[in-house]
Formats: sequence, C-alpha cells, structure tokens
Amino acid sequence: MSNPTEKTADQPVCHRDDVWEGDKVFVDVDGVSILLVNVNGTILAYQGWCPHQAQSLEDADLDGCRLTCTAHLWEFDLTDGKGINPKTSRLRQFPVQIDEDGNVYVRIPK
Ligand code: FES
Repeated sequence: MSNPTEKTADQPVCHRDDVWEGDKVFVDVDGVSILLVNVNGTILAYQGWCPHQAQSLEDADLDGCRLTCTAHLWEFDLTDGKGINPKTSRLRQFPVQIDEDGNVYVRIPK
C-alpha cells in the first residue's frame, strides 16, 4: 500500500494556504522528502534532510528565516538555502509552481 502523503511531481503537494509564515510543511514527492516554507509570502521548497548527516529537518528549529538542525546545530538561511554555520553548506532548493487555484507543485529534476 502506498504512503497516502506521497505525491508525484504531477500532483499538487498542498495548497498555498497550507504553508504559513513561520511554519514548516513536509511532503514527499516522488520519494523525496521536501520542506516547504513561506518566506515573506513566497513558498520555497528545500530538501527535507540536513546535508550534514542526513538527519530529518522535521524537528529543526525555525526562527524567522533561520533553520537550525537540532542534531549538531548547523544553520541555514531559508531565503536562499545557504548555510549560515557552516557557510560552505547549503540546502538544495527545488522549483515550485503554484496554479491559479493556489495548488502547489514541486518539481524534482531527474
Ligand atoms: S545532521 Fe544536521 S547538523 Fe548534523
């Protein structure tokens, strides 16, 4: 039986109203964990796991646009995914499309 929260890139992952500023939404697209955030009204999609040791970011602390992985406290700026600490790290960003009805789609490049 498939995971009911798992979506394909052709299916909307949620509605834009589901992603509030200051909140994190996790969806599964084609088997890839995706973190959705609302940054000043723009919905952005990032990898849902930490680039350090692949810890899920579901428990990460979100303070404004700063996301802190609780495992070893790596920090990321969610306006662009760049690492704050360490600066050499980065969250991979995925393209987001929103249709006229507010349905949110995330593209996972092959
Ligand atoms: S796994 Fe996230 S900081 Fe180490």
